[in-house]
Amino acid sequence: MSRLKIYIYDDPILRQVARPVEKITDKIRRLAADMIETMYDARGVGLAANQVGELVRVVTVDTAWSEKRNSKPAARNPLVLINPEILEESAEDESASEGCLSLPEIEGDVWRSLKIRFRYQDLDGNAHEEEATGLKARCIQHETDHLNGILFIDRMAPESRIELAGQLSRLREKFKATVG
Ligand code: NI
Repeated sequence: MSRLKIYIYDDPILRQVARPVEKITDKIRRLAADMIETMYDARGVGLAANQVGELVRVVTVDTAWSEKRNSKPAARNPLVLINPEILEESAEDESASEGCLSLPEIEGDVWRSLKIRFRYQDLDGNAHEEEATGLKARCIQHETDHLNGILFIDRMAPESRIELAGQLSRLREKFKATVG
């Protein structure tokens, strides 16, 4: 396994739509393993393939680890979602602070459904349909957005985004500087 480069705002790949995984190949399995390592290394609760430069519908999530991350030892139980799809979102929603490994040091409140029903395939190609609530539901909504080129800042209230405008433009400048 190896740690992958995380693409930072506003790299265009973060705005592109990832394509479905048609066949779970060794390449996909390796990508998932590398994403898990990258996610833990960066102390994230979720990661989407766009964020590591691959436009395929693969997401890794481990919110339990995050909840426990201040206690030791932290139990790791990563979930790999291939072709995740949100089937239902509860009307009941909640606003909470989010961050993103592609937007370092940026945090803001985002409204998300409290409960979702979703389906995905695992690395063996088995289909699953499950429900998630709370932080896990939030994280799956955030990561599925990534696969569609949507960032959490897009879902923030305009007034909160205005507060972050300075930080966002600094990130954009930094990105431009690195790509020349
Ligand atoms: Ni993110």
